[in-house]
Amino acid sequence: MLPVARKPIVQYVAEELVANGVNQMLFVTGRNKASIENHFDSDPELTRVLANTNKQELLDELKFEELEANFFYTRQRQQKGLGDAILCGESFAGEQPFVVALGDSILGMNGESKAVARISELFTEMRASCIVAVEEVDAHEVSSYGIVDPGEGEGDWVRVKNLVEKPKQNEAPSRWAISGRYAFSPLIFDMIRRVKPDKRGEIQLTNAIQLLCEEGKRVLALKLTPADRRYDIGNFPSYFETFVEFALADPLYGTDFRKALHRILERK
Ligand code: G1P
Repeated sequence: MLPVARKPIVQYVAEELVANGVNQMLFVTGRNKASIENHFDSDPELTRVLANTNKQELLDELKFEELEANFFYTRQRQQKGLGDAILCGESFAGEQPFVVALGDSILGMNGESKAVARISELFTEMRASCIVAVEEVDAHEVSSYGIVDPGEGEGDWVRVKNLVEKPKQNEAPSRWAISGRYAFSPLIFDMIRRVKPDKRGEIQLTNAIQLLCEEGKRVLALKLTPADRRYDIGNFPSYFETFVEFALADPLYGTDFRKALHRILERK
């Protein structure tokens, strides 16, 4: 629920998914995250008060209530890692392929990213078992991401021979980092169940994808384009930068904020 400029991050992610044709969404949350469920509920009283007091601008911010999607919620009861969180969606997915979007990344500034739609198309076209979105990161950043070992490819995708979660810089097979958007066949659930928890007791999704590779299943990496630029909210430096960039781009307050920022910087 952390905000970036005027909206909570989770709202950007939900809007991105709807714009990419996703209309059934399961939020895997944790304890004390009821605010997400409340946020996506409609609030007729608030809408009425805002309408009666001519607060159109604030009313516009509630537009997400009209998002054409059904929202479902479940909780991961223990913090056992991303792989375990995906497992919480098993009965929701059933026998269907599904996409996963991590809540710590916004793709594209004005929701213009079509990465998830491209991932889904590639998944169907190539009869893949898994697609991961990847972006090239600086060498010193590889230890913060899952990194793919790329094979041959075509256009904007490559085959994934192997993957490694957060490798040391000198052990990384490439600089192609897994970027928080995935598509899976339900086969992934069995792979997750086979993964042993790491030293911190977490079940890594990357290790489950690695098992798919070992089983000879088709795993592909789709490269993000500049329109899919990833804003990482998972650490303070890039969260601050993202907030400022989005605030500067705000159609209503951006210009004044730019002036304020100049004033702050000149004070130094
Ligand atoms: C997770 C994944 C990692 C991926 C990253 C993208 O790591 O385990 O493979 O590269 O998300 O944001 P986390 O950021 O949760 O540590």
